Amino acid sequence: MSQGYCFELCTFVLNRLFGFLSTDMAIDLGTANTLVYVNGKGVVLNEPSVVAVSNINNRIEVLAVGNEAKQMLGKTPGHIRAIRPLRDGVIADFEIAEEMIKYFIKKIHNRGIFTAPRIVICVPYGATAVERRAIQESAEGAGAREVYLIEEPMAAAIGAGLPISEPIGSIVVDIGGGTTEVAVVSLGGIVYASSIRVGGDKMDDEIASYIRKNFNLLIGEATAERIKKEIGSAICMQSSKDVKMVIKGRSLLDGNPRDIEITQKHVAEALMDPVSTIASGVKEALENTPPELVSDIIDNGITLTGGGAMLHNLDTVVAHVTGVIAKVADNPLNCVVLGTGKALAETKKSGSILLKTY
Ligand SMILES: Nc1ncnc2c1ncn2[C@@H]1O[C@H](COP(=O)(O)OP(=O)(O)OP(=O)(O)O)[C@@H](O)[C@H]1O
Ligand SMILES: [Mg+2]
Repeated sequence: MSQGYCFELCTFVLNRLFGFLSTDMAIDLGTANTLVYVNGKGVVLNEPSVVAVSNINNRIEVLAVGNEAKQMLGKTPGHIRAIRPLRDGVIADFEIAEEMIKYFIKKIHNRGIFTAPRIVICVPYGATAVERRAIQESAEGAGAREVYLIEEPMAAAIGAGLPISEPIGSIVVDIGGGTTEVAVVSLGGIVYASSIRVGGDKMDDEIASYIRKNFNLLIGEATAERIKKEIGSAICMQSSKDVKMVIKGRSLLDGNPRDIEITQKHVAEALMDPVSTIASGVKEALENTPPELVSDIIDNGITLTGGGAMLHNLDTVVAHVTGVIAKVADNPLNCVVLGTGKALAETKKSGSILLKTY
């Protein structure tokens, strides 16, 4: 028996015997941010889903992950790339995603040989079998002992404190970086759900292209995101002309650096398309919901989660388009990971909520 095989066998046996020593984790592997929750400790990691790699003579090396890598976005020299391995809510670059998961797990776990964790990871609603498998394999490759998956809108509903197990219809709209997921849940299951490939990233793109067209100014994705967070609004209010921000970019006319002042009214105009796509998605979900559940939803309202829910006045637009009250959940950025963590803590009870893995 080779030494390597012996070592692997011992590790396997110790993993099984001492599994209880591990730090089980719930992971929200998001397009924009990755959050990790550990039972009894709460959210222990919250970092951008970004990896910086260098490529010299086709040898790829990871230089930075998370916060440090995000600061490099749009600022890297030729041989370094800051990559977002998830796009539109799915893994676009498997190898880099696995490196990222490994890095985050190691960072929390500092794991020894017999402390492989049990991990629950959320996947977007409607992720294909291939995508689910890829996420599962990435977690296994990163050292997980057991991997469970949970659908993101279900996790969001649990994390927002909706009564998912009761015979009451609830609707949750999770607006992330890559996707907006709408789900109607009742009796522990999803009655209707849809995933729209519009989220915070699309909003940033629209802001950048509006500024390019109307001000002949080129800005990067980090600046567009900053504008959205600081003065973004889903509707143009009377006072929107007075809320202003100075931004810097490169003039398309002469190539020189230039400052311009934009108002909240401009940003609301730029965001018209993604905002109306999100609101129409919610309306469509309500149209596809059985009438008995709709009546519960009218009483309890629509719950918005995810970072995109923090866009000013988005709740007002959703309420206006659907005719149903809409409210932003407490701590919208953490709902998915908290819900995933709750499902992990109650794995036995959550049997039907967690997805089978292979
Ligand atoms: N105050 C804010 N106003 C508007 N948008 C915001 C605000 N704060 C964060 N966001 C946006 O929320 C998005 C990130 O949200 P979240 O962390 O829920 O996404 P994610 O889970 O990583 O993505 P996904 O669920 O699509 O995979 C980003 O696009 C970010 O710009
Ligand atoms: Mg998310």
